Amino acid sequence: MGSARAARAAKLDAPETHLVSARLATPSDAASIARIYNEGIQDRVATFETRLRSPEDVAAWFDGTHPIVVAERAGSVVGFADTSAYRPGRECYAGVAEFNVYVDRAHRGRGVGREVMAALVRESEAAGLWKLLSRVFTDNAASRGLLRSMGFSEVGVYRCHARLDGAWRDVVIVERLLGDAADNSPGSA
Ligand SMILES: CC(C)(COP(=O)(O)OP(=O)(O)OC[C@H]1O[C@@H](n2cnc3c(N)ncnc32)[C@H](O)[C@@H]1OP(=O)(O)O)[C@@H](O)C(=O)NCCC(=O)NCCS
Repeated sequence: MGSARAARAAKLDAPETHLVSARLATPSDAASIARIYNEGIQDRVATFETRLRSPEDVAAWFDGTHPIVVAERAGSVVGFADTSAYRPGRECYAGVAEFNVYVDRAHRGRGVGREVMAALVRESEAAGLWKLLSRVFTDNAASRGLLRSMGFSEVGVYRCHARLDGAWRDVVIVERLLGDAADNSPGSA
């Protein structure tokens, strides 16, 4: 192999240059998802949760209805986004889902969040959901930036929504309409 070609091949093999791809997750991804979620819990930037989750906890998220997606780079799971029921037991809200998105610390700021959220929107529309919503700490600039850039709107702020490590925190409610709801919303001119 010529040296230029070898250099190109080596570069393509470097983790940074591997493309990110996203796919539907399966319960066999539970350990990777738990590891990434636990980093987010420990970072204290994204959630009121403080109890670390086991792969078994995450496996229970797969309810056969709500899509969960993962992003891979070089064959490793480096991010995930999941949906879950908004108001369990309220059939009128069956098409509304809560979501979360988390990227491996070492891979943040490199397009993984955008890729995995695009896949989540795609899979949620395919599953017949009509709205994704979540709450984001007001000071989580990365998450607010990502979601704004992906068509989520900020509905309002829940003040002192809960305490994290003893301190009251405000959260922004975010939502995005999907499919028919996006096309027919009275708000969409
Ligand atoms: C928030 C998070 C999911 C974003 O994923 P990411 O892979 O880092 O983001 P991307 O590289 O795909 O960036 C996509 C867009 O998000 C925004 N963004 C990302 N990082 C940002 C930052 N630090 N500040 C402001 N905007 C940011 C930008 O609009 C960016 O688009 P651009 O690169 O064209 O400017 C990721 O940082 C993360 O896992 N953080 C910890 C957990 C968390 O906060 N989850 C959200 C819970 S609601």
